[in-house]
Amino acid sequence: MTTTERYEKLYPEFEQAGQGHVFRYWEELTEPEQKQLLERVSGMDLDELAALVQVHVRGNGDAKKNFDKLEPAPYIALPQGEEDTKRWEEATRVGSEAIRAGRVAAFTVAGGQGTRLGYDGPKGTFPVTPITGKSLFQVFAEKIARTAERFDTRIHWFLLTSEINNDATMAAFKDNNYFGLKKDEIHFIVQGLVPAVDVNGKILMEDRSTPAMTPDGHGGSLRALVRSGATGHMKELGIDCISYFQVDNPLIPCIDPAFIGFHLLGKSECSSKMVPKAYALEKVGHFCVQNGKTVVIEYSDLPEHLQEQTLEDGSLRFVAGSVAIHVFDRAFIERLGDAETSSTLPFHRANKKIPFVDEQGNRVEPDSPNGVKFEMFVFDALPLARNPVIIEGARGENFSPVKNAEGVDSPKTCKQDQLRMFARWMKKAGTDVACDESGLPGVEFEISPRFAADLDDFVVQWRKREPKPGIEDGVVLENS
Ligand code: UD1
Repeated sequence: MTTTERYEKLYPEFEQAGQGHVFRYWEELTEPEQKQLLERVSGMDLDELAALVQVHVRGNGDAKKNFDKLEPAPYIALPQGEEDTKRWEEATRVGSEAIRAGRVAAFTVAGGQGTRLGYDGPKGTFPVTPITGKSLFQVFAEKIARTAERFDTRIHWFLLTSEINNDATMAAFKDNNYFGLKKDEIHFIVQGLVPAVDVNGKILMEDRSTPAMTPDGHGGSLRALVRSGATGHMKELGIDCISYFQVDNPLIPCIDPAFIGFHLLGKSECSSKMVPKAYALEKVGHFCVQNGKTVVIEYSDLPEHLQEQTLEDGSLRFVAGSVAIHVFDRAFIERLGDAETSSTLPFHRANKKIPFVDEQGNRVEPDSPNGVKFEMFVFDALPLARNPVIIEGARGENFSPVKNAEGVDSPKTCKQDQLRMFARWMKKAGTDVACDESGLPGVEFEISPRFAADLDDFVVQWRKREPKPGIEDGVVLENS
């Protein structure tokens, strides 16, 4: 088809959908610009967009925010006594067997824009470890490599990127020799984009040939896995458990045997880890039960009085914080991402400042939100899943994200949490490192994920290590 023929086919469709202005500058564009514009709009799902505008821009959004009958979601707590310990050991055994059998893949969502950190580049390339400054991607890669070695298996790693950072992400992997992993066991999946609109539901134009598009949220990862053929590939490889985590959290045990075991024993389609909230108004999602379904309610949606509500013993009632760590059943993702039902995850609206060109063709940099972007959240899969299982995770072993340049969840707090974790591991393995009352060691050292991927692994590896190195400033425990 020629450029003109493609234009003549597409323009009426956009006009009909009330979005004809996308082609406002058509006559003035150079031919390459015209081609570019056609390229950018040809995959747009105008029906989906019309439905989103109807609900979120003209209507009052997903109005299901009635919290009258909200209950805290039940979860499997960390082991307290002998019975619990047996239960956790059994889960660890079942999970370990599945890992050994090659049934488990890692899945990292890394398609976001990472604007809060103010870092130029894919967030996964941000340096995080205390001594060697390994990047987030390298930490995950080494944990995956060590877990594969420990269980004498192979572990495929799927990563969600977006058009915004896919090329730079792939280049970072190539430049770093795939962080020591096999290239054909790493799979990049580019997530979908959704147009951003103005307050009247009209697609915003970044420039005369570029509609403003934003990634469809981490919830879009599920349909991206299906549409890209990744779930089909997983099936061929015999993978049915997908260990999901965010790119911002280096503490995560990428593949956690006990978690996978509880997921399998519970015949769950989607399992989640909770961490007790550090304080009532911590900015995390809350695991709740609403109308008999397990749901996550964001801190921004849950009224403060519920976030702060306490039980008789003074503990928080809605204590279960979501740290965005899940295990998905592959067939469940296939069901959700199926072309017929691909819209089952709801979209959420976010008001944003989106630069655009106005009707006179002038570029405008707004100083207050002028547009709307649409995102799906992965945890909205929970109420659609059969037998959702939630287990408790110790915060110090699971969660210390890098989100902000300073203050909470910053590179500094994350580095300190890594040091605390390393000191705790040493102590559990029988070697005391002097720490302050917050558990922060007096010396800065690092345990490479290639040496041990988690606490249990570390205890075994440290016992085997002879001679044992002294723990001093700058020491890095590598695999020998
Ligand atoms: C998120 C969760 C929150 C949870 C917290 C834990 C939401 C709405 N909230 O908050 O419940 O307690 O993490 O740290 O998710 N991403 C994509 N594609 C996108 C958008 C995001 O891959 O289109 C990825 C990002 O790269 C990142 C992750 O999703 O790895 C989280 O995104 P972010 O927007 O940072 O979520 P938070 O607001 O921090």
